[in-house]
Amino acid sequence: MIRSFMLTFLLCGALSFAQEVKIIPQPVQVITNTGNFVINSQTKLVVANNDDKATAAFLNKYLADYYGFELPIVKKLTKNSIEFKSLNTIGGLKSEGYSLKSDNKGVVISGNSPIGTFYGMQTLIQLLPVEKSNNLKIASVDVKDEPRFAYRGAMLDVGRHFFPVSFVKKYIDYLALHKMNYFHWHLTEDQGWRIEIKKYPKLTEVGSNRNGSIVGRYPGKGSDNTPETGFYTQEEVKDIVKYASDRFITVIPEIEMPGHSSAAIAAYPMLSCFPNEKTAIPDNMISEKSKQELANGRVKLVQETWGVFTDVYAPTEYTFNFLEDVLDEVMALFPSKYIHVGGDESPKDAWKRSEFCQQLIKEKGLKDEHGLQSYFIQRMEKYINKNGRTLIGWDEILEGGLAPNAIVMSWRGEAGGIAAAKENHQVIMTPGSHVYLDHSQTKNEKEVTIGGFTNLEKIYGYEPIPKELNEEQAKYVLGAQGNVWTEYMPNPAKVEYMIFPRLSALSEVLWSPKENKNWSDFQTKIEIMKKRYGIWGANYFKETE
Ligand code: ACM
Repeated sequence: MIRSFMLTFLLCGALSFAQEVKIIPQPVQVITNTGNFVINSQTKLVVANNDDKATAAFLNKYLADYYGFELPIVKKLTKNSIEFKSLNTIGGLKSEGYSLKSDNKGVVISGNSPIGTFYGMQTLIQLLPVEKSNNLKIASVDVKDEPRFAYRGAMLDVGRHFFPVSFVKKYIDYLALHKMNYFHWHLTEDQGWRIEIKKYPKLTEVGSNRNGSIVGRYPGKGSDNTPETGFYTQEEVKDIVKYASDRFITVIPEIEMPGHSSAAIAAYPMLSCFPNEKTAIPDNMISEKSKQELANGRVKLVQETWGVFTDVYAPTEYTFNFLEDVLDEVMALFPSKYIHVGGDESPKDAWKRSEFCQQLIKEKGLKDEHGLQSYFIQRMEKYINKNGRTLIGWDEILEGGLAPNAIVMSWRGEAGGIAAAKENHQVIMTPGSHVYLDHSQTKNEKEVTIGGFTNLEKIYGYEPIPKELNEEQAKYVLGAQGNVWTEYMPNPAKVEYMIFPRLSALSEVLWSPKENKNWSDFQTKIEIMKKRYGIWGANYFKETE
């Protein structure tokens, strides 16, 4: 009895001066001191300027949403406070860097810029207990931190399945909670065009509606005969871009070309090399409605199955005008320096069969259809550059010659990224082998996923700088990105199941110094993080194997 009392006493004592600190992503430096600070209803958030006020308000919203109380925001320094101080110069840290100090008197977050202060606030969130309470104990710590990579991204494919604005915002919140800073929004696909373009209303009237999807994993068990529809109005896009920007996240729009363009072609068949050829959807996959429509004379359909399709944009003046018009509206909506034009998986079959394309290849002195793809992308790059932006494309844009200022997203492994960095082009690493979040997380996956297997340990172990690059070349690697292709993610719960806990591992790959990563520690930390997913009401993958 006495011994057990003693043990409890000792344990509680130990806890009171050495509270566990489990921060994801792991900071550059964490010193844990004895004692702690208790956030209670008397605690004040002290801010110096409007940027810090916005960051304090973000913390307040988090406290309100997940702990059920808010704190007053004041300008004058008081006792029992959490102080936010931007625009401090913290020796040796990047502009996104910050320091966070907590002791029994309070917390001080000093950012090298408002972004740094925002990240410091995210670290404070990681120090909050995972149990709801009115007295939140924060460990005494001394944190100094900054990101390893400038580009810390995640992509969401809203073409295969449409997700409401509310979930897009939630996804952006998830990125912010992991100190990620780029949201790559994959807006157009064979199976759906999801952004309102005022000059081409049929893109959404026709292109955002498909009549059905295959049931189960490809080739599937027939059509579900259920429409999948939806698009974002320009007002909604503006709202999302602002929402992200308030969280220091840049939204990169992707408008796919020349492939993955069936939905646009369904809306404007003249974009195809063969406007009068019917869209091919196998009999065992097509919906009843589409079958009927084809029988009644409809020619082009929004695709209803997954994969790569041969009906791609024709490299005509009509298409280039169309794409320039679309990009005009896109660039007006997205202030991002980067504009993504896809460029992946564009079969050359139609271009080989097309007299126009063959003539164009001759006329321009191009080698072949790959040269024509390069011509296509380079032409779009000129337009994008003329508008002061930089083009990003998937690694296929290397084939036939890289556009002069393009950034390569290396997805078919790292070879494309290595080649591009060696040509002094900037690179974002997104290899399917390590950062595709549509792969299974376990060999015993019961949910439908796409073939690959990428468990938590594999993504955690990813190193974005390939060893083939020397120090100079390595500087061209801006960072890395996780990709969420949604063929088999029909709803937000499935997206959450696929991203968590892997997104947390990716955030540490992107943020933390290589030497601070530790798989064994991460396994302990992720168990606490899973409790945070629980607080957020987020679904996540729960098995350990
Ligand atoms: C891709 O996964 N097709 C970029």
